[in-house]
Amino acid sequence: MLSLERVTRENWRQGLPVRASDEQAPLVADFQPVLLVILAKVAVRVGAVDWWPFLLRNDGSTVGVVAVADHREQHNTLMIFHLLIHEREQRRGYGRAALIQIIELAQRTDGCHRVALSVNPRNHAAIRLYESVGFEETGTNDDGELQMVRQLRTQDVPDPGRTSS
Ligand SMILES: CC(C)(COP(=O)(O)OP(=O)(O)OC[C@H]1O[C@@H](n2cnc3c(N)ncnc32)[C@H](O)[C@@H]1OP(=O)(O)O)[C@@H](O)C(=O)NCCC(=O)NCCS
Repeated sequence: MLSLERVTRENWRQGLPVRASDEQAPLVADFQPVLLVILAKVAVRVGAVDWWPFLLRNDGSTVGVVAVADHREQHNTLMIFHLLIHEREQRRGYGRAALIQIIELAQRTDGCHRVALSVNPRNHAAIRLYESVGFEETGTNDDGELQMVRQLRTQDVPDPGRTSS
């Protein structure tokens, strides 16, 4: 079963071999290994927010990487970046399992009302995957990427106006 494992000083090297094919690489990051791009963003806090780096682990091996940026303070949103399943491990359900786990993480995270991401409009495989777990297109950003949002169910979000008796 797939699990999200926070990148630590002990396990970070395990994410370095996760690679995109030459064709897919421009869809996911400017450089490879993608984990190094993620760790740079963690270090400098791109967007002035915290970044949570994850390995995607299955049966003792690392099949992918992903990052979540914490935009709760301004937007009540967690944003997904750099989702990559190793080229040899694709089409085995890991991408969908990773997204479902991130949505569940968001549901457990105080002050989070939605999960958002942006995607190259030519990345039809990823768009189909995002739609299959409830993401909806909301527009296009300045870089020409499609913006997509997965609202969390209202019963998952505490109502700030509600008082307990
Ligand atoms: C997009 C990506 C994360 C999907 O991960 P994955 O583990 O291969 O996807 P899954 O096996 O969970 O597939 C889920 C669904 O995605 C879609 N999909 C995935 N790969 C596809 C492909 N090559 N062609 C068409 N649809 C595809 C399908 O709808 C699939 O559902 P199905 O198998 O029931 O038809 C993976 O292909 C990847 O890492 N791509 C390169 C990096 C990238 O583009 N990241 C997204 C940046 S926004």
